[in-house]
Amino acid sequence: MFKHFFQQLKFKAMARQLRKPSGAMGNKVGEMMNKANGFLYDFAFDCMKIKHGEAILEIGFGNGIFFEKVFAQADGLHLSGIDFSETMVKAAIKNNQHLISTGKLQLHHGSSDTLPFADNSYDIIFCINVVYFWDTPQPHLQEIKRVLKPGGKFYAIIRTKESIEQMPFTRYGFTSYTIDSWKSLVQENNLHFINAIPRDEPEILYKGNYIRSQSLCLVTEKTQ
Ligand SMILES: C[S@@+](CC[C@H](N)C(=O)[O-])C[C@H]1O[C@@H](n2cnc3c(N)ncnc32)[C@H](O)[C@@H]1O
Repeated sequence: MFKHFFQQLKFKAMARQLRKPSGAMGNKVGEMMNKANGFLYDFAFDCMKIKHGEAILEIGFGNGIFFEKVFAQADGLHLSGIDFSETMVKAAIKNNQHLISTGKLQLHHGSSDTLPFADNSYDIIFCINVVYFWDTPQPHLQEIKRVLKPGGKFYAIIRTKESIEQMPFTRYGFTSYTIDSWKSLVQENNLHFINAIPRDEPEILYKGNYIRSQSLCLVTEKTQ
């Protein structure tokens, strides 16, 4: 019984760190996410097909080690990021000094439900493993819609409901989505649902068992 209790405490702590990494443990979790989620960044790039000169915003960039890869997708990009974890913003600034000093990359500390950007600013907004943590999605989607240019696209990369349920810490504060539940949500917020692109991830070893996850890239457009 005690073993179970302490295990649940560990899962809760992990869930809290994934939602908003903080302190030394947060930095460790950031590094762990880099290993676990590099595949999802490559998947996002395949879906987004970034073009020359586009203005791009990433929500929830963690420790920011993938910004370099975003710049490798096309020339002349203008890239911003926002994350509400102070620990992750500090780590990302440290990891991206060279990009920040040239003015190509701007990093902000803040939440996606109050974006510090002008209306109609971005061609692309994307986030990877973030929307699970939106307790009330509406203000986040409204802000995304406001700062996207007309015709701009929002890409939310998530693991499927079945996939995240394989990981016991997701019982604590994660909201999972099906394609239909996401479609209804974005439509309620006057965004146009385009499609959901599935991708199987490579098998990984998790607590002594091999597990396989499936991810979705949920694509939405601001039409007006
Ligand atoms: C699970 S981590 C994912 C990090 C990275 N995108 C990846 O896939 O490896 C979630 C990240 O999103 C950030 N985050 C969660 N909710 C957020 C919000 N409402 N606004 C901004 N950042 C948020 C967290 O601080 C954390 O850095």
